[in-house]
Amino acid sequence: MSEITALIGGTGIYAPGNIKEGRVVRRETVSTPYGDVTVERTDDLIFLNRHAPNHSVPPHKVNYRANIKALHMLGVRRICATFAVGSINGDFELAVPVILSDFIDYSSGREHSFFDKIEASKGHVDMSVPFCPVLSGALEREAKARNLKVRRGGVYASTNGPRFESPAEIKAYRKMGADVVGMTLCPELPLALELGMSYAGLAFSINWGAGMTPNIELVHEGVDIIKDKMLHVMMAALANTKDADCTPASIL
Ligand code: HPA
Repeated sequence: MSEITALIGGTGIYAPGNIKEGRVVRRETVSTPYGDVTVERTDDLIFLNRHAPNHSVPPHKVNYRANIKALHMLGVRRICATFAVGSINGDFELAVPVILSDFIDYSSGREHSFFDKIEASKGHVDMSVPFCPVLSGALEREAKARNLKVRRGGVYASTNGPRFESPAEIKAYRKMGADVVGMTLCPELPLALELGMSYAGLAFSINWGAGMTPNIELVHEGVDIIKDKMLHVMMAALANTKDADCTPASIL
């Protein structure tokens, strides 16, 4: 039996129309201790719409624990996730996907851990290597194979939303080392690592950060073209790796 893997689609990436490729896609609802989650799936690939079917949940209200727990309960150990972001580093072109390498968490007030009751002092997940290098390498290879220009390595500033940032916030995040800004990486990534899963992130910029242009202007040109390719790159990266290739973060 093949391993079960997952794609998490963020804003603008809505499967399964695009991922069907002749395979049967069905809906399944998983009941977790944190709430019910509906996914779309084939036998070995789960598609989770982060913002729920119909994009009805804003970033600060996403039930991240239910989403990640549901994937874990379905047997998923490897995840590729997409994010629509703003670029805050002038070198990070719009509509060129970034394979994320690190993050800074500026979010607050979210349920951000499964370790509410620490047993035997185990409850601190190691964030030294937050994004799986094996999955990230596979994303880079599969992008090359499909002529999709990507950038390897970028730091994601994870904000609370739903508002955009102020110009001073963007300047501060840039000074602190961030390249792109978005509202959903945290706590999704740390939660996945808490459950021993491996996770890679592909972010695509749809605007320059606040203050870098007179107003936030969302671009569509170029972005619509890469979305389908991104889905295929992520599916191939998952298909051409194995759970045993990846080293989950340790819990200390
Ligand atoms: N800031 C935060 N989240 C975003 C942005 C942004 O500029 N663009 C897309 N998601």
